[in-house]
Amino acid sequence: MGEDRDMAEIESVFRLENATCRYGDLRAVDNVTLKISQGEQVAFIGPSGSGKTTLLRLLNTMRAPDEGRVFVAGTEVVNCTASQLRKLRSRIATIPQNLGLVPNLTVIQNVVLGKGGARGTVGSIRDMLLPMKQDSLSIHEILERVGIEEKLYARTSELSGGQQQRVAIARALFQNPSVLIADEPVSSVDPARARDTVKLLEELSGERGFTLCISLHHIELAREFFPRLVGMRSGKVVLDGPPDDLKDSDLDTLYKLTQKEMMLDA
Ligand SMILES: Nc1ncnc2c1ncn2[C@@H]1O[C@H](COP(=O)(O)OP(=O)(O)O)[C@@H](O)[C@H]1O
Ligand SMILES: [Mg+2]
Repeated sequence: MGEDRDMAEIESVFRLENATCRYGDLRAVDNVTLKISQGEQVAFIGPSGSGKTTLLRLLNTMRAPDEGRVFVAGTEVVNCTASQLRKLRSRIATIPQNLGLVPNLTVIQNVVLGKGGARGTVGSIRDMLLPMKQDSLSIHEILERVGIEEKLYARTSELSGGQQQRVAIARALFQNPSVLIADEPVSSVDPARARDTVKLLEELSGERGFTLCISLHHIELAREFFPRLVGMRSGKVVLDGPPDDLKDSDLDTLYKLTQKEMMLDA
């Protein structure tokens, strides 16, 4: 590992080869092949139930594929030792769809909790993901950056939805991650708030150099801020490219219900 890996491997943070995840007979992720490079900013779009959350859980190693292979930083996840897996997970920050905050704790307690995964890792295990170019931001820098510094000692449950999203972002940043995975981080706020938050995540990814993988409800935000869109439908990747290449007919394909789906809906 480390110096011995060739550049192509190092450049791919994530590589999925024909990855499939099943729930019973349902293929939540269906034969997906995909590469994501270090520092890329990727927005996953597609209707509800298309497999975005399951795919993001493959990336952050919380789910293993039932078929196919998943490589993180050139190493197949199933071959990782427990300590390698811990190390990997400490480098991949996740903002889950429900934010995963502890409501009874203060803002600062929630932010500091994010480092839990990194604690106790042995120094001799070499970083599998590229180390960050920069030192960690201090907690005050982070809170200032996300705009909640005056809320440090507020109980998290007393904050607005938008503020809670920012606490979740602060917690992820405090991990000084190589990769940030955010699952619909702006699903429950007004459009102006949603835009500010997505913009903040994209800017931070550019400045800090972390890879950003986000699933987004709002196609317009995905188009505005992300150089690469991956469209999912029924577990499959049905489009993958820059927003300028996206045609209205592609979006129709992505979101128009098929006859079969309409019957299921009814
Ligand atoms: N724990 C689960 N048990 C059974 N089915 C699930 C589970 N999680 C997700 N699914 C199903 O897998 C498919 C993909 O879900 P998901 O990855 O959450 O999609 P998305 O995030 O795009 O809404 C959906 O049909 C969903 O109902
Ligand atoms: Mg989801």
